[in-house]
Order: sequence, then C-alpha cells, then structure tokens
Amino acid sequence: MAFWNKNIPSSSSSCKHFPIIGLLSLLLLHPSTTCFGNAIRVVSVQKPTSDDIIIPSFREAPAFRNGKSCSWRDIDKIQIVMPVDANYIRGTMAAVLSILQHSTCPENTSFHFLSIHLEPDIISLINSTFPYLSYKIYHFHPNRVRGKISKSIRQALDQPLNYARIYLSDILPKDVRRVIYLDSDIIVVDDIAKLWGIDLGNKVLAAPEYCHANFTTYFTDTFWSDVNLAKVFEGRRPCYFNTGVMIMDLEEWRKGGYIQKVEEWMIIQKQRRIYRLGSLPPILLVFAGNIKAVDHRWNQHGLGGDNFEGKCRGLHPGPISLLHWSGKGKPWLRLDVRKPCIIDYLWAPYDLYRSSRIALEE
Ligand SMILES: *[C@@H]1O[C@H](CO)[C@@H](O)[C@H](O)[C@H]1NC(C)=O
Ligand SMILES: *[C@@H]1O[C@H](CO)[C@@H](O)[C@H](O)[C@H]1NC(C)=O
Ligand SMILES: *[C@@H]1O[C@H](CO)[C@@H](O)[C@H](O)[C@H]1NC(C)=O
Repeated sequence: MAFWNKNIPSSSSSCKHFPIIGLLSLLLLHPSTTCFGNAIRVVSVQKPTSDDIIIPSFREAPAFRNGKSCSWRDIDKIQIVMPVDANYIRGTMAAVLSILQHSTCPENTSFHFLSIHLEPDIISLINSTFPYLSYKIYHFHPNRVRGKISKSIRQALDQPLNYARIYLSDILPKDVRRVIYLDSDIIVVDDIAKLWGIDLGNKVLAAPEYCHANFTTYFTDTFWSDVNLAKVFEGRRPCYFNTGVMIMDLEEWRKGGYIQKVEEWMIIQKQRRIYRLGSLPPILLVFAGNIKAVDHRWNQHGLGGDNFEGKCRGLHPGPISLLHWSGKGKPWLRLDVRKPCIIDYLWAPYDLYRSSRIALEE
C-alpha cells in the first residue's frame, strides 16, 4: 500500500494548502475545503492473513512519549472512556493507537474501558498490545438495563454495552470528574488535548451538534402527537447530536440525576415506542438543545453507512479531527471481505490486528 507510505504534513491554520493525494480526493465532496487537523502518521499495515487462528492477536504498539510541546503539569490527566468487547476490540485498539499517535501528551492520557464480560483474554490482549498504557477496565452489568432496552432498527444497537455511557457517573470512581466518551468505531487524527480543553461552561455535555438535521425524524408520530411528551422540548431549540463522541461532566451528571432522567424515557419507550434507534434518542430527549456545541471536525460520523445496508459514504466537507464509522458497516469487516469503502483505507493504518477474526465472530 504505497499510498500510505507518506507522512501527511500537519496543517496549521489554513487548510487550503493541504496536499490532497489521489485516493483521498476521491472521497471528498469539496476537496479544497477538507483537511486533517494534524498529521496522519503511518504505521506499517500488515494485511490480515486468511489462516484460521483461533486466538486473536494484535501487534504490539510502540511506547508513546510526551512531546516537547506537552506542558502538562498541574492539570489533570486526559480521561477517555471507551467500550470494549470481543466484537469491537479491533476497533477499540485502532482507536487507542490513533489517539496516542496524535497526542502531544500520550503519557498523560488515561483510558477507562467498559466491558460486560471482563474476559481475561481481553485484558491480556490490551496488556500485550499496549504494554505502557495507563488504563482501567470496569464491569458494566447488563442487569443495569435489563427490561429497559427496547428493540431498535438494528440489533447491534440493542447491546447493553451501548447503554453504559448513560451510567458512567456510577461506574467510574468519583475522582474522575470529567471524561471524553468515545465509541470504538472511531479514529482520532488530531491532538485529543484540543477536545479535552473545551470549556463546558455551565453545560453537562459537549458534542458537535447538527441543527440542520431534521430533528423530527428521530422520534415517532406517537411522540410528536402527544403534547405531554413533545412539550419536553418547549423552550429549547433541539438539535441532533451523535452520542459516540461526548465530553461529559460526570460530577454534574451525578448531581443532576441524569441517569434517572434518561431511564425515564427508556421506560416510556418500552411502553409506547416513541423512537426507533437505541441509546441515542433518550439522551437527545434529555439534552438536545442544551449542550455545549463543539466544532464538527470532532465527529465525522456516518462513515459506516446507513443502518440497513451499510452503503459507502463520503466525507463531509471541512476539517477533520475524528472519523466515526457509525452506521451498519465497520471498516474492519469490509476490509476483511475485501469490499472496503474508500474511506476504510483511512482506518486501515491503525489496525493492529494480525490474525484471523474467527474466534471473535461467534
Ligand atoms: C504527565 O506525564 C509525565 C511524563 O510521564 C509525568 O512526569 C507527569 O507526572 C504526568 N502528569 C500528570 C498530571 O499525570
Ligand atoms: C494486565 O496488566 C496489569 C498491570 O500490569 C496486571 O495487573 C494484570 O494482571 C494484567 N492482566 C492480564 C490478564 O494479563
Ligand atoms: C422533517 O421530517 C418530517 C417527518 O419525517 C417531515 O414531515 C417534515 O416535512 C420534515 N421537515 C423538513 C423541514 O424537511
């Protein structure tokens, strides 16, 4: 893959002079306005072999050291929360690598992994892939959401682990006051410290928001036609945001009783079907129109395609700091069956996986 054997120079303030190279330009709607916030550095890609190896294995990532421009002294560590499970571990590993690689202060970044099963295999995989990683793994008990999950349009959205983000204020230790929550199907191509540095003001949650998206479509007619339900949005201008990338103030989340607030909507959903997606709509019901808006560069979502077929999608115009394969298709699956979308070649350099996925597919 000669294409990747280049270092893409950092773009500073202006994106206009960013060199767009062949393949990449095919992706872009408006190539001249799209750029990456930082260098995409290159890792040598090892193609997955087709040997049927039962024990999954990843290449060991190098040790990442703080850069000279890291002026981290009295400030708290960057706290990142991600789900990890057997099906998505390849995504989580790639995401972690991408974060460390672009970070000026990788040694001051802590990871908090959420897991339903706490498989020793997964823990030793993390240990051997990232021997220098500062991380903790937490158990998310599916009992927490038993009876509260209603069937959505896509089975993967109904996994209890998807709901864990609602319960972070209970799961993580109290001294972790603020976190960046990230889904496992992302890669970060910019310094995560920039996202961490965003001031939430008096808000509990920060995320890119999309006020041009048709908000109506996220809820059913049952919801909109019941004035008692729909009035929840009275006095705010609700905009869609994606819950795969959020800065969350856990202290405020706890104080405000937001677990219960979100759960109340999940219970109403169980009885009345007021939306079709999984863990996203109840969070929208509580927070939409009342979040700190973050630059769109921090969540180029939808790269997995639609919810049904996972068709290929291109990038939206504008600078990019984080790519998110939300939707049905996942880059590692498409690459494995040799039907990748062009965009998946941006994910591939972060793939640390080296053996057959068979053990993980069951
Ligand atoms: C940041 O990392 C450096 C280098 O490992 C370490 O000396 C320093 O104590 C760390 N700071 C915090 C706040 O963790
Ligand atoms: C993973 O590493 C941690 C810290 O070094 C260690 O305490 C733990 O026993 C290791 N777990 C496994 C399963 O290797
Ligand atoms: C938004 O979606 C709803 C329901 O799908 C539709 O009735 C409405 O016309 C749409 N509004 C706009 C501005 O497109």
